[in-house]
Amino acid sequence: MDFKLTEEQSMVKDMCRKFADNELKPKAAHYDKTHEFPWEHVKKLGEMGMFGVVYSEEYNGAGMDYPSYAIAVEELSRGCASTGVIISAHNSLCLSPINYFASPEIKKKVLPKLCTGEWLGCFGITEPNAGSDAAGTTTTAELKNGKWVLNGTKNFITNGGVANVAVVTAVTDKGQGAKGLSFFIIEKGTPGFSVGRTEEKLGICASSTTELVFENCEIPEENLLGKRGDGFKIAMHTLDGGRVGIAAQALGIAQAAFEESVKYANERQQFKQKLSNFQAIQWMIADMATEIEAARLLVYQAATLIGTGERQRYSKYAAMAKLFASEVSHRVTHKAIQIFGGYGYTREYPVERFYRDARITEIYEGTSEIQRLVIASNVIREF
Ligand code: CAA
Repeated sequence: MDFKLTEEQSMVKDMCRKFADNELKPKAAHYDKTHEFPWEHVKKLGEMGMFGVVYSEEYNGAGMDYPSYAIAVEELSRGCASTGVIISAHNSLCLSPINYFASPEIKKKVLPKLCTGEWLGCFGITEPNAGSDAAGTTTTAELKNGKWVLNGTKNFITNGGVANVAVVTAVTDKGQGAKGLSFFIIEKGTPGFSVGRTEEKLGICASSTTELVFENCEIPEENLLGKRGDGFKIAMHTLDGGRVGIAAQALGIAQAAFEESVKYANERQQFKQKLSNFQAIQWMIADMATEIEAARLLVYQAATLIGTGERQRYSKYAAMAKLFASEVSHRVTHKAIQIFGGYGYTREYPVERFYRDARITEIYEGTSEIQRLVIASNVIREF
């Protein structure tokens, strides 16, 4: 067992940490307040290879390993959680199913632009009445005269308003539940495909979260990813990777809250001494540090397993990493506000933003309750 990062992983960590400190941190409050999409960061991160971290250099990807990807999302989220999820949803949710399941022609057409960040991607399975029940999709795709015709609405789609490419599930065989779903790729500009309502959110305010609307949207037959009827499995396979990305995002938010808290505890004086002299504060700091380290080990372990192809193992570890890191992020950002006291509740300091940003990590890409379900079903099957 070796807990040391490789040379490449250390390089990614340093590069993303510097970018977070110099570019993301100084602007994060502005983007949080204005809800503007951070295009300036997207451009620079594209040049850094962050839009195709694990994908082949043949497609302009950076060709790195999964732990490097998790480290990148962690460090970027430490600077700006919205930027973290823009990167995570693009890499894990949009590019992964294209990379695994699209035809060589489609891959050649879209991946080179997606991997550089010239194009952004999104993933749509959620619908107004199909959240945790991902197989409850009602969007339909009918094959007519050699074209798939899509009708329906997806919601809560990260990168929805800015994406050039969407990958979505739709019912192709009614009445067959999960086995009746298929997976499609659609390009922006396709007639019948539009962006619907934009959500106003509690946190991650600079990320775009919208509806995707399909109204008799015709796409070529070859835009089916994988086989007809495999859509649910492709979505689950994709979410295994996505959950590691969100776990890394949660970890980065927790780390940022922790660092700010220790700095503040060393500066702020009450009762004629530094806050960090008080045992009540020291205990909070000790718990934060310990939980963050434990979450980091789980996130890196899950990321290491993704590349192995051992589906059931990484499905379980991805769920464990997402569950644990998101709940740690919640507890750590909660304590951060406590350490800052009244100031922590104001916009003068970033900890209230960390608290708001952390909350969604317990919900998207599967709620904590769904992660427990995935973990339990895998654990029980192992006995
Ligand atoms: N990889 C591949 N296949 C998988 C799989 C995986 N990880 N997990 C399950 N499958 C397969 C199973 O093998 C099974 O196939 P067979 O019938 O051939 O055996 C099939 O899928 C059905 O599996 P289950 O019976 O286990 O499915 P279930 O209905 O009991 O449970 C669920 C499914 C875990 C509840 C699932 O619906 C789920 O994960 N729900 C949460 C959805 C979710 O995470 N949504 C997030 C939206 S995306 C988002 O938030 C993005 C964003 O913008 C940031």
